[in-house]
Amino acid sequence: MSIVEDFNLKSWSSFALEARAKWATEVYNELQLEKAFAFAETQQAKVLCIGKGCNILFADDFDGLVIRMCIEGIEQVDESPEYVYVKAGGGVDWQELVQWSLKRQLSGIENLTLIPGSVGAAPVQNIGAYGVELKDSLFELEVYDQAEGVKKLKFEECGLAYRNSHFKGKWKGKRWVTSVTLRLNKQARLSVEYGGIKKVLEQRGLNNPTVQELSDVIASIRRSKLPDPDELANAGSFFRNPIVSVEKLSELKAKYPDMVTYPAHSGYEKCAAGWLIDSCSLKGYRDGDAGVHKDQALVLVNYGKASGDDMLQLARYVRDQVLQRFGIRLEPEVEIVGALL
Ligand code: EPU
Repeated sequence: MSIVEDFNLKSWSSFALEARAKWATEVYNELQLEKAFAFAETQQAKVLCIGKGCNILFADDFDGLVIRMCIEGIEQVDESPEYVYVKAGGGVDWQELVQWSLKRQLSGIENLTLIPGSVGAAPVQNIGAYGVELKDSLFELEVYDQAEGVKKLKFEECGLAYRNSHFKGKWKGKRWVTSVTLRLNKQARLSVEYGGIKKVLEQRGLNNPTVQELSDVIASIRRSKLPDPDELANAGSFFRNPIVSVEKLSELKAKYPDMVTYPAHSGYEKCAAGWLIDSCSLKGYRDGDAGVHKDQALVLVNYGKASGDDMLQLARYVRDQVLQRFGIRLEPEVEIVGALL
């Protein structure tokens, strides 16, 4: 394991922003991870542990050690008449795990097809798309706990909620995911209710789709809606969909009848942040190289040379426009390192 000094983080984040880390290293197993932490301790340096950097905005240089989780490996660890249990290292590419499960005709994560990022990052924000969340398939995980070393946790202990978990809250900076075990269904249990899926299935004449066919549909919907980070630097949805009380929403809906909302817990609804931003006429808005995507207002993009600060200024502008117009405060979904929004 080598530790590089003064490392350029540009290739380690899908926003492709110029930022430097005082130190950086890649870890391929738990021992290397422990050594990296030991190094940070001797230097009294702060640590940032990242996966593929698909949900991160480096707003500034990082004055500490950035550890890139690269623990590989996908293996079936158990089986029952109904389920297959599969364990994957934190550094595995999420899509590789989706492909692994499709190849074996297992179901559970097909709606999460093509979500950029690593397996280890998936529980941190409880990745979700098209009516399915990671927590629906998550069985257990292994974490590195700075005080206790490697620990096994049941998924129920991890506080997974909409784009949230204890890893973003009380465990932030204390516990990092090193592997994830999923429980996948042998008998396909497909979720096709979420907007858009049924229409495409019908267009393709698929009344009774296979897991692979559903995954293909999801892939085509995603490709039509979301920019590919390899072609246009971005970090997916920049903001979470805000949860707003039904009282407040009924006032707003009287004024804006086409406002898009989804059910949430009792007395609240989830409001489509993309719609809110779009309704402020910000789709395609651009300030230098920092912009709001032309087709999906929830995605902020770096056209090439934007700095972390440029992206941050844009995000603040978008947040303030939405706040002014709707009285709803957007919170970032992307992790911002080195600044507050
Ligand atoms: N909308 C607009 N204008 C826009 C964007 C969206 O009017 O510019 C409207 C759409 O027409 C739709 C609604 O807003 O009625 C919701 O849009 P969409 O279905 O595209 O989904 P989303 O709420 O914007 C969420 C996730 C995505 C996930 C999709 C599909 C969050 C923050 N985002 O987006 O996740 O892929 O649903 O399930 O929950 C990500 O986390 O990076 C991500 C892409």
